[in-house]
Amino acid sequence: MKEKVRWGIIGPGRIARAFAEGLHHSQNGKLVAIASRSKERAERFSKEWQVPFQFYSYQELAESSVVDAVYIATPHSEHMDTTILCLQNKKNVLCEKPLAVNASQVKTMIESARAENVLLMEGMWSRFPPLMRKVKEIVLAGSLGEIFSIQADFGFLPKNKDPNGRLFNPALAGGSLLDIGIYPLSFASMILGMPKSFAALATLGKTQVDEQTSCILKYENGAHALLHSSLRCETNQEAFIAGTDGSLRLHKQCWKPQKMTIQSHHSRKEEYIEMPFEGNGFNYEAEHFGQLLEEDKKDSEVMPLEESLSIARTMDKIRESCGFKYPFEE
Ligand SMILES: NC(=O)c1ccc[n+]([C@@H]2O[C@H](COP(=O)([O-])OP(=O)(O)OC[C@H]3O[C@@H](n4cnc5c(N)ncnc54)[C@H](OP(=O)(O)O)[C@@H]3O)[C@@H](O)[C@H]2O)c1
Repeated sequence: MKEKVRWGIIGPGRIARAFAEGLHHSQNGKLVAIASRSKERAERFSKEWQVPFQFYSYQELAESSVVDAVYIATPHSEHMDTTILCLQNKKNVLCEKPLAVNASQVKTMIESARAENVLLMEGMWSRFPPLMRKVKEIVLAGSLGEIFSIQADFGFLPKNKDPNGRLFNPALAGGSLLDIGIYPLSFASMILGMPKSFAALATLGKTQVDEQTSCILKYENGAHALLHSSLRCETNQEAFIAGTDGSLRLHKQCWKPQKMTIQSHHSRKEEYIEMPFEGNGFNYEAEHFGQLLEEDKKDSEVMPLEESLSIARTMDKIRESCGFKYPFEE
């Protein structure tokens, strides 16, 4: 039997726990190390998930020889520096979405991964479950005809509106666009590629991050994508693709893609498809990453680095047109 990929996690917060559970269900990976800035938090996480190695600084984990791959689960503002620290120590990196705060940071990270000849991938986890792979297959096969319209939204009302927490704190690159607006954007990018032009509006909150953002992207063939994110209310959390021959609806919560309805415009027939997760869903991105390592690949065809860069460029333009920057970008 092949050796499993030895994973380390940096930043033992909420999503680190979901990833640890995902690894528990993965066929080709195991969790061996955790790094926190605090001894107490590293030990608590270790105990919770039976992790053999604990590090009390990110640097120590990056330099350690006990891991092959590192999952970075820190706030957005920390992604670039933590990723580069790991890449420079020849660690393969799966970094949570968004890969970084802006396109300039993403570009620096990609250059570093290429210079060190290691694998880097953005953890856009909803691309990897079987149902989302099926959506891409259906679109590529032309079953919906030529795609002209996409609508997708992700809005929720956080229980904790702590202005210092990562969702609302501008110093941690908070706001709806980078945190959840990236899901509709990444979805539209997967289906239609890079937009040619756009229009956007944002509502800034007390802390000067966008609490709602809406945009319309326009593509070369005239297609439109209407995308929305909100930290002020819960929205449909659905995604809808319409083409000349049919349409496809990804049901709530489309970011944990497990249910869809396909409609043919010609026969008027509807097909409802359910593909439930095995595990909690995070296992799919971990397994894909492990497969890339086994094949000695340095980039993923499912979430390519150039596409992460293109999405970061679109987010930069949306923020610029809505007139907001993060304090460290001034
Ligand atoms: N895929 C998804 O469904 C999903 C869902 C939620 C979030 N995310 C992404 O996951 C990442 C982390 O989100 P989260 O909700 O897990 O955050 P979180 O619960 O706040 O945890 C973040 C962790 O980062 C570490 N950290 C490092 N520098 C920090 C700083 N300056 N301020 C605060 N914490 C810092 C902390 O660990 P130590 O201090 O102990 O080292 C903390 O536990 C983000 O990129 C977010 O977009 C993804």
